[in-house]
Amino acid sequence: MQLLNIIGAGKLGRTLGRLAAQSGQYRVQDCLARSAASAQAAVDFIGAGRACSQLVQVQPAALTLLSVPDDAIAATAQALADSGRVQPGAVVFHASGAAEAEILAPLRAVGAHVASLHPAFSFADPARAVTQFAATLCALEGDAAALPQLQDFAAAIGARPFALAPGGKAAYHAALSVASNYLVTLTDIARQLARQGGVDEVLLSALLGPLMQGSLANALSMGPQQALTGPIVRGDAATVARHLVVLPLELQPAYRVLGERTVALAGARLPEEARQTLLALLRD
Ligand SMILES: NC(=O)c1ccc[n+]([C@@H]2O[C@H](COP(=O)([O-])OP(=O)(O)OC[C@H]3O[C@@H](n4cnc5c(N)ncnc54)[C@H](OP(=O)(O)O)[C@@H]3O)[C@@H](O)[C@H]2O)c1
Repeated sequence: MQLLNIIGAGKLGRTLGRLAAQSGQYRVQDCLARSAASAQAAVDFIGAGRACSQLVQVQPAALTLLSVPDDAIAATAQALADSGRVQPGAVVFHASGAAEAEILAPLRAVGAHVASLHPAFSFADPARAVTQFAATLCALEGDAAALPQLQDFAAAIGARPFALAPGGKAAYHAALSVASNYLVTLTDIARQLARQGGVDEVLLSALLGPLMQGSLANALSMGPQQALTGPIVRGDAATVARHLVVLPLELQPAYRVLGERTVALAGARLPEEARQTLLALLRD
């Protein structure tokens, strides 16, 4: 059975700690939080481990999850490397979606292998998270020597691991941000325009919701190019010109940039002449 330390036993740390302990393949050794009370609450939740509030209390382990907040990862990795508590050959990984494994580089100097494992999951409530985590996709990247152990860890906690390309973490995280955040921003733009057209506030979600959900479902199932409908893919430049006349100044850049991306996406579905007319209009 492998020893697992959890440095930063908060929402994600508690959840993965309990799943690892339940798997029977890991023994949770030390759980560190800033306060002793929080560390003890993590141990109680996981049902295993020893509560710590200082790195010097932590004993060496084969696997260490560094699940402190993102802005504390670099300093904690340096402090862990300086603590002498990490042995050569040990694997240390963080769970941030934005940071590369490279942020743990100081630990390589003491012989550790470093990686990141990012679960595409929201850990708002650990008690609920442990019941819903099964089959969650987890993005892996980092040192080649660390990845087999993380594949095993992911399998033990019931996750579906997949590898990112070396250096691919930033693009991966940008994809998640576009998919989740920009969708919200697009919703806001559509609501603003519908209001401008006189649609009552209480009807906004009923009007836009089914359209948005249907388009998203089509794009995911058919692929974006086949799912595309509307004036641009029809080559209807007159309609696009009418939109541009009424669009508020602050929305013009977003409409034009997304319009150009939509022309590109339409590809061969759009005759060359219509493509040129639309691009000239959008770039005007
Ligand atoms: N939450 C999610 O849905 C989610 C999803 C995917 C990935 N992640 C990633 O998981 C990691 C942890 O996130 P989380 O939501 O679990 O955070 P969290 O609930 O705030 O827990 C952070 C833990 O780290 C401890 N801590 C805070 N600052 C510290 C410091 N400077 N030094 C040492 N320990 C410190 C906290 O101690 P106290 O308990 O004493 O405050 C707490 O135990 C992050 O990298 C995040 O990006 C989170």
